[in-house]
Amino acid sequence: MIRIVQNDITKLQVDAIVNAANQVMLGGGGVDGAIHRAAGGELFEACLKVPEIKPGVRCPTGEARITPGFKLPAKFVIHTVGPVYRDGLHGEPEKLANCYRNSLALAVENGCKSVAFPCISTGVYGYPIEDAAEIAVGEASAFLASHTDMTVVFCCFSGYDRRVYEELLTASAISATV
Ligand code: APR
Repeated sequence: MIRIVQNDITKLQVDAIVNAANQVMLGGGGVDGAIHRAAGGELFEACLKVPEIKPGVRCPTGEARITPGFKLPAKFVIHTVGPVYRDGLHGEPEKLANCYRNSLALAVENGCKSVAFPCISTGVYGYPIEDAAEIAVGEASAFLASHTDMTVVFCCFSGYDRRVYEELLTASAISATV
């Protein structure tokens, strides 16, 4: 099932929340900063233990890594790194789609039944919310078709973003509880 909420993702009572991280995966601003603040210092320590695949890169763009949620209500944090938006013609859509796909795969591997996503890449990384939401809903719908026991929550921080998701789901006649 798909749910759309307008909330601070650190408050959600779900099995896993997804973090819009950067490749270093040691925190940052935006939702990354909020999640690290709410989870506490143990999250930083857990991220530090994630092996670098090359200097300064623990999680390449489009991939995902999982850590415990520590002080968060969520059991896990799935860190994914969205693309920095240029013009949509440099592989951004595929990389963003991979963020959703790889995060959902990690959620399944770790027995999660509910996963909440922020609007990945639509803040500092500049991805237009309308285009990003279309990718997010497309990936979630395809995934849920073969994982009917799971819930994907789109956690919007602004009313504008929530309306974008609502209109998208209405237009594509995908059922969602708001
Ligand atoms: N809960 C839910 N959504 C939030 C929260 C929150 N507490 N705080 C911010 N957001 C929303 C933003 O409003 C935006 O819609 O998360 C979305 C993603 O924005 P960013 O956090 O800026 O993430 P992104 O655009 O993917 O840029 C990632 O920013 O913080 C740094 O370390 C991070 O370098 C990375 C980059």
